[in-house]
Amino acid sequence: MKTRITELFGIQHPIIQGGMHYVGFAELASAVSNAGGLGIITGLTQRTPELLANEIRRCREMTDKPFGVNLTFLPTVSAPDYPGYIRAIVDGGVKIVETAGNNPQKWLPMLHEAGIKVIHKCTSVRHSLKAQAIGCDAVSVDGFECGGHPGEDDVPNFILLPRAAEELRIPFVASGGMADGRSLVAALALGADGMNMGTRFIATQEAPVHDNVKQAIVAASELDTRLVMRPLRNTERVLNNAAVERLLEKERRLGAAIGFDDIREEVAGVYPSIMQQGTMDLGAWSCGMVAGLIRDVPTVKDLIDRIMAEAETIIRNRLAGMLAT
Ligand SMILES: Cc1cc2nc3c(=O)[nH]c(=O)nc-3n(C[C@H](O)[C@H](O)[C@H](O)COP(=O)(O)O)c2cc1C
Repeated sequence: MKTRITELFGIQHPIIQGGMHYVGFAELASAVSNAGGLGIITGLTQRTPELLANEIRRCREMTDKPFGVNLTFLPTVSAPDYPGYIRAIVDGGVKIVETAGNNPQKWLPMLHEAGIKVIHKCTSVRHSLKAQAIGCDAVSVDGFECGGHPGEDDVPNFILLPRAAEELRIPFVASGGMADGRSLVAALALGADGMNMGTRFIATQEAPVHDNVKQAIVAASELDTRLVMRPLRNTERVLNNAAVERLLEKERRLGAAIGFDDIREEVAGVYPSIMQQGTMDLGAWSCGMVAGLIRDVPTVKDLIDRIMAEAETIIRNRLAGMLAT
């Protein structure tokens, strides 16, 4: 399939694996890229720029296809060493960066001078237009369904994507709730040039996380996610569990008076143990409503091949067939 996204990134299929904390290691990114999609290493999961440089090297040993690095700009006082991370990306010869979180404007000149294409993840039309105005090459439009941070506007993709298509000139991918060939065809129909998946890629053989995480996603239905940290205007969609119930109870009890310190135990530093040791109830971890559509743990190649075959069948048989007289 050829779209503006496959052309922009030099990939075979218009499928991107979004950056995911403690999931987006070289094993997953290279598997996605080898299967013809765009794999993404999560920059900040590597504690230092030197470790990121090493992860990029490892990924390059596992694939000769294009892959990217996610840089999430956090709203924190003690910012990570972003210039160092960007140097590691540039020196590592990576040509695609997925930015997310705060406005990436400050970092765009450094990235563009190195010939790097930037796709910024946005949860609203207004942020997508801002990304276009500051010179991003593409955007990933992340609907209310998404795992992780859906923003505060709560607009689902059936509205958000066609609204983005009405306004944007640069190419965009649909993100949030994408799982299969149906998702891809729907995303294209709504004006996107491809799709970005997070949760679906965790439940694959190559995702380097504990099997408990994969099984929790397979077992979950579309009713099993919760929104946490809304009172802090840092909303995150997570899979429900004992820690999440506790966190939500604190939110109800403390109301507007709640601060980050009140929920630190449930959210701070919980990812390594959950993802690597499979301690599922330790804290809140991002997961999309799309868990309701995930019923197996295939290899990345089988998943991507299946998506592309299903998309082709839908377009050629189901949709074209409806037009036949
Ligand atoms: C476990 C997990 C961790 C994530 N970590 C990040 C992150 O560090 N940075 C980021 O930009 N997005 C992160 N995301 C969001 C994904 O990149 C992607 O936008 C989102 O998962 C899409 O929604 P979906 O899960 O419905 O496919 C994370 C998502 C999940 C499920």
